[in-house]
Amino acid sequence: MNRVLNKDVAQKIGEEVIVAGWLHRLRDLNKFGFAILRDRTGLLQVVLDADQLGQIKDLQMETVLRVTGRVVKKQSKDPNANEVEVQATKVEVLSPVKDVVPVEINKDNLEVQLETLLDNRVITLRHPKQRAIFRVQAALVKGFRTYMDSQDFTEIFFPVLAGAASEGGAEFFKVDYYGREATLSQSAQLYKQITMGVFEGVYGVSYSFRAEKFATSRHLTEFNQLEFEVGFVDNMEDIMNYAEASIRTMLKTVSEDCQTELSLLNTTLPPLGEKFPRIRLTEALELYKQGTGIDETAEPDLSPAAEKWLSTVWGPKEHNCGFVFVTHYPEKKRPFYTVVDPEDLTSTLSFDLIGFGSEIISGGLRINRYDEQVERIKAKGLNPADFEDYLMMHKFGIPPEGGFGMGLQRMTQNILGLDNIKEATLFPRDVQRLRP
Ligand code: 4AD
Ligand code: MG
Repeated sequence: MNRVLNKDVAQKIGEEVIVAGWLHRLRDLNKFGFAILRDRTGLLQVVLDADQLGQIKDLQMETVLRVTGRVVKKQSKDPNANEVEVQATKVEVLSPVKDVVPVEINKDNLEVQLETLLDNRVITLRHPKQRAIFRVQAALVKGFRTYMDSQDFTEIFFPVLAGAASEGGAEFFKVDYYGREATLSQSAQLYKQITMGVFEGVYGVSYSFRAEKFATSRHLTEFNQLEFEVGFVDNMEDIMNYAEASIRTMLKTVSEDCQTELSLLNTTLPPLGEKFPRIRLTEALELYKQGTGIDETAEPDLSPAAEKWLSTVWGPKEHNCGFVFVTHYPEKKRPFYTVVDPEDLTSTLSFDLIGFGSEIISGGLRINRYDEQVERIKAKGLNPADFEDYLMMHKFGIPPEGGFGMGLQRMTQNILGLDNIKEATLFPRDVQRLRP
């Protein structure tokens, strides 16, 4: 007899089944008892007789059990269990737990501080609401792949060890590589661009490492990006269309695959509107000033508060949309590979997508001509000799191209309305934390 998942037990009334999972709760009524069994699909009530109860009475929650029994319609209503229960005929202990679980994960809500949640990650991840977050995250990635595959783009894989920093700045980790100095990849940027000469359209899930100096609720030192790059584009609009279409498929996949998870998390997904609004940075700052009275129009960037207002107040109100493209960031703020706006040399053909709270995507058009790229590298105070491999692609021809990178944990955090990005990260690393 094969194991039946908890969610499927209701279809087996009157039959004998084998179920297995973790002892989530135990109610001992002396002559008999109720064990709530948790598996990856939910909770199930198992009725135990006195002998079976005796078998597990001295064990702790999280003991792994396999139960054989008959499925019957449930007598008393427990809102947390299925409408059926299993009357056990045999109980086997697959893995006895003898220590008391450090965090009570059998309550509806895990009422612990973030640090406790993360210190005990091994256990706290087992809570149904924690699992739900990462089921949604997996569905986001599935949706991204579905969209990219539908466009016949090629999935590629990126190196994590590199000889030099890719995005510039000081936020990179050094590692000892056989006595030489290597860095951990800040972004797959340069590699995905190089493949424009090969595949024309690529995507992939990359690892990015940033030696952030401060702990914030939006930054990790290690995170994933959903990367995209495509050749033979006419303008930046093309890239934003790909970003928008991929997000629509991602959220569609979440709503198709994750209804149980969304209701468990008590979340509704952000509104998508007809079309994601596209506004220039200068306009965005002006709107923020008009809408809130806060004047940041002299700033070269959006503040976290402005991003939040734009995507959770202005976008939903004016466009019924929680996603807002902000374009034309200043040349000084964007990396050396970004195309400078021919109509305004202080500005670039680049964009961020602000997604229901904060930046989730950076993207734009990339310089594809050799001479231009060499000039930009110099203008940024960098040395072209340090970019020999990268410049080889320009030297030998790549098409006009562009792309974007989407922070996976940031996206998960924002669509689920989580306070801290670490809640959207299975095993987060930050300035302090390197475990578990
Ligand atoms: O904006 P970023 O730094 O852009 C790049 O890395 C470019 N190479 C992307 C491109 O193709 N043009 O990072 C991209 C996204 C951000 O929008 C944000 O969602 C996320 O990655 N991100 C972080 N997430 C968590 N912790 C951090 N420290 C992050 N830094 C960026
Ligand atoms: Mg960015």
